[in-house]
Amino acid sequence: MRGMITVITYGTYDMLHKGHINLLKRAKALGDYLIVGVTDENYDRSRGKLNVSESTKKRMKAVEALDFVDKVIVETHKGQKAEDMVKYDVDIFAIGDDWIGAFDYLNEYTHVEYLPRTEGISSTQLRKEHFSKIKLGLVGLGRDTEAFIEEAQNVSSIKINRIYAKDFLAVKAFTKDNELIKYGHDNYEDFLDTSIQAVYIDTVLDRHYHLIKAALEADKHVLCENPIALGKEELKELLHIAKKRKLILLPAVKTAFLPAFNQMLKVLEEGDIGEIREVRATRTSLYREKNYPDTFIAQGATNILSSYPSLLVKKVLGKHKSIDFFDQEENGYDISNLIITRHKGGAVGVSRVATGAKSEGDAVISGSKGYIYIPAPWWLTKSFSIRFEDEHKTQEYKYEFAGSGLRYMIAEFASLIQRNKSTSKMLTPTDIVEINRIPLEYDEFKKLRKKES
Ligand code: CTP
Repeated sequence: MRGMITVITYGTYDMLHKGHINLLKRAKALGDYLIVGVTDENYDRSRGKLNVSESTKKRMKAVEALDFVDKVIVETHKGQKAEDMVKYDVDIFAIGDDWIGAFDYLNEYTHVEYLPRTEGISSTQLRKEHFSKIKLGLVGLGRDTEAFIEEAQNVSSIKINRIYAKDFLAVKAFTKDNELIKYGHDNYEDFLDTSIQAVYIDTVLDRHYHLIKAALEADKHVLCENPIALGKEELKELLHIAKKRKLILLPAVKTAFLPAFNQMLKVLEEGDIGEIREVRATRTSLYREKNYPDTFIAQGATNILSSYPSLLVKKVLGKHKSIDFFDQEENGYDISNLIITRHKGGAVGVSRVATGAKSEGDAVISGSKGYIYIPAPWWLTKSFSIRFEDEHKTQEYKYEFAGSGLRYMIAEFASLIQRNKSTSKMLTPTDIVEINRIPLEYDEFKKLRKKES
């Protein structure tokens, strides 16, 4: 009598379709026990699958509901397949023949079987039929506009076709030989009056508030360069309008949407490093906006950079209970700031930013049992490691990172619009308010300090 034969297969299984079911049945027919590995959304995004429409949970549930599937697991990282072969004592690895050859390396652990794929159906095709393209307009001709256009080409659900900028000649020059963006406007009202559903704003900082407000009032979803408003009251007002109108308003803090960053937060939840005592992150940049005046708004280190370290602090430790600033000034604006926050249970957040000093841009999350280290530049998270007193226990995590990282943010923005969701779990309204703690608190702090001296 033969023993039980275990078969394993993997896939995204977005919008579960006949092709998936046929393949899973074929896989099951090879043995007695079928394990299906469903790819986690962060893993999918890290390997360039940016347009999956359903959450990991939803996709897993759909596969679990099939009575011939015996076990469903989640696939979170490269190299997991080989680990699973050993862990589950797998006899056969099965996969569709669109992958022929790609998994031959697993023959070392198990028997690899490529099965016929069902013709004429795929998740990509279903997504295309199910969702229409989102029309997006660009606002301003800023530093990141070109990169945004380029990166958006990787998000199949978005179509950029218009631009608005104050400068009529610049708009004309931009659209003249542009294959994609044919329509240019120098009148914002006319621009908002078109069929665009969403805007990406990249202008000088002090115009953000008015441009966002008008866009929201014209029922457009908004993605805007950070900071989206220069005062907390204005920011809250904008978030309130967005909420009331069920629109998305996101600051372009791209770190929040990176697959490796989100995977790191998930790993952290597993609790291996114990109780978290401190989060420390640094971001410095000597970059100067050439066309901007030298002002606190344009060049202040806190204003331009602090959202990034504050994001890590907020995501890991939650809202702060108290805050202190240790800044250095030059010509009337801050060229560096050390921001120390206290959180629940006494944990401490240390956010360091500078535009007038260069430092190592790494991050450390310290716990009672170990720590997570994210090497510079941590805000473009590509890898991280979990380290302990015993250095043999170190675990390294490495992820793919394509382009400048913007595509992950654009993909989330598009996905929210398609799914009729007005807030993102990766960057919630509470996160947005917390990480934009500056400059109101900073101003208050300065006033206070003036009084003291
Ligand atoms: N599959 C299949 N026949 C299809 C589509 C998929 O046999 N028409 C198989 C794949 O070969 C793979 C599994 O189903 O073994 C999961 O594939 P997945 O990539 O999730 O599905 P696709 O429809 O190919 O998704 P996409 O279009 O996003 O690539």
